[in-house]
Amino acid sequence: MKLGVLTSGGDAPGMNAAIRAVTRSAIYRGYEVVGFERGFDGLIQNSWRKLETISVSEIIHKGGTILKTARSKDFMTEEGMKKALRTLETLKIKNLVIIGGDGSFRGAKELADHGLNVMGIPGTIDNDLSYTDYTIGFDTAVNTVTAAVEKIIDTSLSHERNTIIEVMGRDCGDIATYTGISTGAELVLIPEIKTDLNTIFRKIKSNNKRGKLQSIIIKAEGFHMKTEELAGLIKQETGTEARVVVLGYLQRGGEPTTGDRILASRMGAEAVRLISDGLQNRCVGIQNNNLVNMPVDKAIGYQKDYDSALNQLADILSI
Ligand code: F6P
Repeated sequence: MKLGVLTSGGDAPGMNAAIRAVTRSAIYRGYEVVGFERGFDGLIQNSWRKLETISVSEIIHKGGTILKTARSKDFMTEEGMKKALRTLETLKIKNLVIIGGDGSFRGAKELADHGLNVMGIPGTIDNDLSYTDYTIGFDTAVNTVTAAVEKIIDTSLSHERNTIIEVMGRDCGDIATYTGISTGAELVLIPEIKTDLNTIFRKIKSNNKRGKLQSIIIKAEGFHMKTEELAGLIKQETGTEARVVVLGYLQRGGEPTTGDRILASRMGAEAVRLISDGLQNRCVGIQNNNLVNMPVDKAIGYQKDYDSALNQLADILSI
């Protein structure tokens, strides 16, 4: 019996822990494991390596992915799909574990539509998949951003000026919301809420009136206004400086937290269990700390509801 595994889309801390869990659980259950390199491109380029237990030693604590990753444009072409299917057929691989986000699960669905048995594991820092409470990499990204914001607070305080910190998440505001709470930010701006500009100016002015001349504003990249533009308007409307820090790709790296390592290990083993128990075309998730799984087509394409209670908490605690 053979099983393939790949990582796809934006990398996330914890992907290596997931690769390790898939590999070792599969070997434990009698499978041979093939790791495809650079996401779906690995299927097209026939770029793979056999994974043994030793292949995944000493990686649980490492960020990134030993299999590399990519956003494969070719895979979405007919020619690309044909090559991918030919690779899988030649290698006699009928089961494939895909570790990635929404876009990767769409690719998984395409393979399922062509007769492959796919298992999705949610690996993305965005936490933007509606069927699971958490995605692998999110906890680490929140910790990384928290540590960065705490450094920025020092200089913001010293110069008594506002700082807007732009964080990742694509169309999801969870990284911003969670780090807004963990750092005590004065404002959290997320794509799910079209915060009115006057609300932002009023908040900064009221802080200024009570002697707090520095506000930390954590803005998700998907918020409805560009960060530099918002900084200019804050200066113009409140008379106080607003510096901009775009945290960018440091949110995607670093050693995974123990939480992400455990989440990835649980999900990796579960994906293999589902295959071994004969289930087809599912995505593994976590809800209320219980492992769940659902059909691939139910796991993609749904806008995740933002946690309004958590956002309200961020607001209340920043008065
Ligand atoms: O999906 C993860 C993510 O980091 C998003 O938060 C971000 O918008 C995007 O990837 C950046 O994409 P790329 O790595 O292709 O620049």
